[in-house]
Amino acid sequence: MTTSLPPISTLLGPPAPPSLPQLPYQRWASQHPPKDPVHLFTHKTVLVTGSNTGLGFEAALKFARLDAGHLILAVRTPTKGEVAKQRIVEATKYPSERISVLKLDQGSFVSVRGFLRDLEKVLRGRGLDVVVLNAGMAAPRWRVCEETGWEEAVQVNVLGTAMVGMGVMGFLKAGGKAKGDGEGELGQLTLTGSVGHMYVKREDMMGLLDVKEEEEEGGLLRVVGSREFFGVEKSYSVIKVLTMYVMQGLMECARREEDGEVGVWVNVVCPGFCVTDLGREFPWYLVWMTRVMHWYCGRTAEQGGRSLVSATLLGEEGHGGFWVNDGLARQGDMVTSEEGQRLQKRLWKEIRDICKRELSIK
Ligand SMILES: NC(=O)c1ccc[n+]([C@@H]2O[C@H](COP(=O)([O-])OP(=O)(O)OC[C@H]3O[C@@H](n4cnc5c(N)ncnc54)[C@H](OP(=O)(O)O)[C@@H]3O)[C@@H](O)[C@H]2O)c1
Repeated sequence: MTTSLPPISTLLGPPAPPSLPQLPYQRWASQHPPKDPVHLFTHKTVLVTGSNTGLGFEAALKFARLDAGHLILAVRTPTKGEVAKQRIVEATKYPSERISVLKLDQGSFVSVRGFLRDLEKVLRGRGLDVVVLNAGMAAPRWRVCEETGWEEAVQVNVLGTAMVGMGVMGFLKAGGKAKGDGEGELGQLTLTGSVGHMYVKREDMMGLLDVKEEEEEGGLLRVVGSREFFGVEKSYSVIKVLTMYVMQGLMECARREEDGEVGVWVNVVCPGFCVTDLGREFPWYLVWMTRVMHWYCGRTAEQGGRSLVSATLLGEEGHGGFWVNDGLARQGDMVTSEEGQRLQKRLWKEIRDICKRELSIK
């Protein structure tokens, strides 16, 4: 397969020393920021969700610097998206007419459907080349989305992300095909995950592993989103395990209908622990803890944004992979173990069924 992507060897960085505990590992990562990608995205249409601030904004800024043909900022609040667009134009002299701002609130299925309709209009029959599903939140407390009835992080990070991923798949397949009838480079879908998923242990998933298949009423997703299961830190990491499950599910959707071959490359990236507003609603003691951590082992959002961009350059070798610290890393036990894989199948079926139903509503 011939592609215009750079050889993966040019993107790889030094591996972290083996078997470091979590804190020294993060300290090492902050002292070894990822490489800043230089590969151009000329003629490519790139979409980044949650791109008004933090990692998403930094990634969008880089895609503009790297000459993306068309940049689509998908944001919860369009006025914030317009400010981000202005900042990108001022910083890069990127032509403003090549940036589209679209509203996307992953807390609402109605909004996701509206976003996909707007996206189709903006693309005008063209496909997408690169999509970074970065929008996400760290739930400060147990809260339920009024419109959907799902716990907020399950709704925004899992269902919202999966629904957008399934919704853009057709555009990504078209983008890949446009480069030569399925030959050459495919569309690329990248999800923002976290190394936090690797530290999730069997015990953390207990409430889920206890649910027998025949008892599944209400679904495993209801368990993850229940008040009893919730814990600020635990839930965030478990949700990132589910991000890995969603990637594997989206890899099934990425197959071409005609021959079952891979039609879109899908992967997950972790930017490392970065200084952003992710914990903006945390209780005061966690805000302070996060600040100390930022000082001790935080990367800048710009450094984290580098990984979001390099993850989209991995092509076939990165398909199904977990990209962190400029390397394809081992995935957590709750992803790779037999038990984890059984859970993935059951959870993905629930997630896919909900998203399919919501996507089919006109
Ligand atoms: N920072 C880290 O250390 C770190 C590490 C690993 C992974 N991550 C992941 O990276 C991603 C970006 O996080 P960040 O650190 O850049 O945080 P951030 O600065 O808080 O940015 C989060 C982005 O997601 C958007 N968002 C939140 N809720 C949304 C919703 N309901 N619908 C649509 N968009 C929504 C936010 O929009 P508003 O501005 O409108 O709220 C914002 O644009 C997240 O998925 C996070 O889990 C972060």
